[in-house]
Amino acid sequence: MEIQAAGLQRIVERYLRSEASVSMVVMELVQFTADTQALARALPTLTGDPARLDQLARHLAENEVGCRTIVRMMARGLDLPQVAQSAQEGIERSRRLFDASVAESEESSVALYALGSPELLAVATDEVIGALRDWGVLGRERDALEIGCGIGRLMVPLSARLRSVVGTDVSAGMIAAAKRRLEGLSNASVQATNGQDLAQFGSASMDLVYSVDTFPYLVLAGRALIERHFHEIRRVLRPAGDFVLFNYAYG
Ligand SMILES: C[S@@+](CC[C@H](N)C(=O)[O-])C[C@H]1O[C@@H](n2cnc3c(N)ncnc32)[C@H](O)[C@@H]1O
Repeated sequence: MEIQAAGLQRIVERYLRSEASVSMVVMELVQFTADTQALARALPTLTGDPARLDQLARHLAENEVGCRTIVRMMARGLDLPQVAQSAQEGIERSRRLFDASVAESEESSVALYALGSPELLAVATDEVIGALRDWGVLGRERDALEIGCGIGRLMVPLSARLRSVVGTDVSAGMIAAAKRRLEGLSNASVQATNGQDLAQFGSASMDLVYSVDTFPYLVLAGRALIERHFHEIRRVLRPAGDFVLFNYAYG
């Protein structure tokens, strides 16, 4: 019990110091305890600004359904990707993991910290789009590729800010979800990939390659896969192209 409280306190400190968002911290707390009711009882007993602790407790209560989804995904090992012995094994694991995750919850499958909420996921998506805009890598004269597009949640808003955007993914479930979301957008498409390379794309065919929360899975699949992807990204980019990577590895 003592260790439990100390563990919760350590996670909560990041929120109290404004180093992590309320959703991120609630996700970490749920991953730590898996008992959302015990967590709700423990939060008021922790040390810190009572108003901030109350905010965490309210966020937990408001997103109870999504938090229970995380617990279900944890029980099936869907929140814990593992190091693979080979690139092929890592890719196969990702395929299975994300096929199962997207069947459970589209929002949670691409971002556990969205707590299963389309609204919370939209806030996180806006943040990524805002960063890409601020870095000057978008434009109606630019063609873009997303590696590991998941359900296509970034491609939908980006299609209005690019000439074209194509997403790749190893998971058939993800591809199906993305196709549904992109329906009617003439400049956005998705393609299944073997996960090993970008062979289906021509050299110097893209102005922007971006990847959000996908490289951690490539890293788990080994250095050779990462190196191949960096070579491939360089190959498909036009000379003035940009590569934007959000989240390289876990930890
Ligand atoms: C956490 S999700 C992120 C999805 C999307 N980028 C987003 O932020 O909404 C990671 C995605 O990467 C995909 N993925 C994993 N390994 C991959 C690989 N080698 N090539 C392409 N996609 C991969 C998974 O199937 C999954 O859809």
